Amino acid sequence: MNRPADEMAIAVRLRGSADEMPQPPDVGLRERFAARLRDVASRPDLVPIEFNGSQIAARRGGTLLGAALKSRTRLMHLCGARTLCATCRVRVSAGAENLAPMSPLERLSLRYHLSFSSRTRLACQARVAGPVTVESVFPLCGELSE
Ligand code: FES
Repeated sequence: MNRPADEMAIAVRLRGSADEMPQPPDVGLRERFAARLRDVASRPDLVPIEFNGSQIAARRGGTLLGAALKSRTRLMHLCGARTLCATCRVRVSAGAENLAPMSPLERLSLRYHLSFSSRTRLACQARVAGPVTVESVFPLCGELSE
């Protein structure tokens, strides 16, 4: 066990070496995040969504996945909304026109996972602009059959 004076010296040395480490390049992430927050905050109105037969609400401009998680709907999202896993896939039965158009990345992910239906969307990417009715393609977490 180190004496307190030794530990203090180690802490000072570590802090000094951390300060000397190269900083990651600023790619404007902070500004883009702040702009996104301002954009969402400027549209605080909620949009009704029917998710697997339950009524939930989403912020206009927010994603289906965000709305599901906020309402404690346990939709799978293994890759953390990076368009890699497609476990957040939902089938849109009504109001598809109220979702933001599919991005090339979302389209690529769905094709990679052999989902070719225009009614299938990634909940982590689909942004809501109006009422929509969706159903998850995979069972919700905690609802797996035995
Ligand atoms: S959470 Fe993985 S693709 Fe949506």
